[in-house]
Amino acid sequence: METRVDEIAERIYRLSTFLPAVGPKGFTFNQFLVDADEPLLFHCGQRALYPAVSTAAARVMDLRRLRWILDAAPSATVAHGAIGCAIWLNDQSPRPPRALANDEVLDLGGRRGRRLDTPHVPHCWDAGLLYEETTGTLFTSDLFTHVGDPAAVTGGDIMGPATAAEKHFGFTGVTPATGATIRRLAGLAPRTLAVMHGSSFSGAAAPVLESLAGFYDDLLQKGAAPARG
Ligand SMILES: [Fe+2]
Repeated sequence: METRVDEIAERIYRLSTFLPAVGPKGFTFNQFLVDADEPLLFHCGQRALYPAVSTAAARVMDLRRLRWILDAAPSATVAHGAIGCAIWLNDQSPRPPRALANDEVLDLGGRRGRRLDTPHVPHCWDAGLLYEETTGTLFTSDLFTHVGDPAAVTGGDIMGPATAAEKHFGFTGVTPATGATIRRLAGLAPRTLAVMHGSSFSGAAAPVLESLAGFYDDLLQKGAAPARG
């Protein structure tokens, strides 16, 4: 198992592990390392990925510098939204996590990570995303998930592959709030979308997010339409 490293925005690194046996065309599992005075890793991946992800991250920096999230690093603290800390992380984390309020900024020193509570988007009550304000990078978690091993970054279409994957897997629990939550993200006008599975997107991301919001609104309406007999 090998993890590729690509810089997708200034000092923001995509650590991509491709698992060919997952899904119809294989699946990338992407973690994102934000290099700053207090470096942050946006999700660690499954336990089986730790050796490959750690080795890749160590190519970017001394792992002892990691300050946030990667709990394998000796001086790092897990940071999560307040609800997630309350309902499971306080119980399961070997060290006390740092609970972040909605819209709270974690000043990393040279980079600023804003926590955004996004309940049930992409899934679970405690869901939330991170927006790095300096580079305009939105870490989208499972939003825009798509299969295969595409380029690290694209300025092209990610909506087509993402909607195909949503139709195949049905991984998002669509609610009346889904579209509105994603439109709130579009209001940030991100310049990079750091996607957990598939290519990251570089360019004007607000229209892409608006398009995704519209897709889920349509899906909800179709699901709610009365059956015709
Ligand atoms: Fe994921």
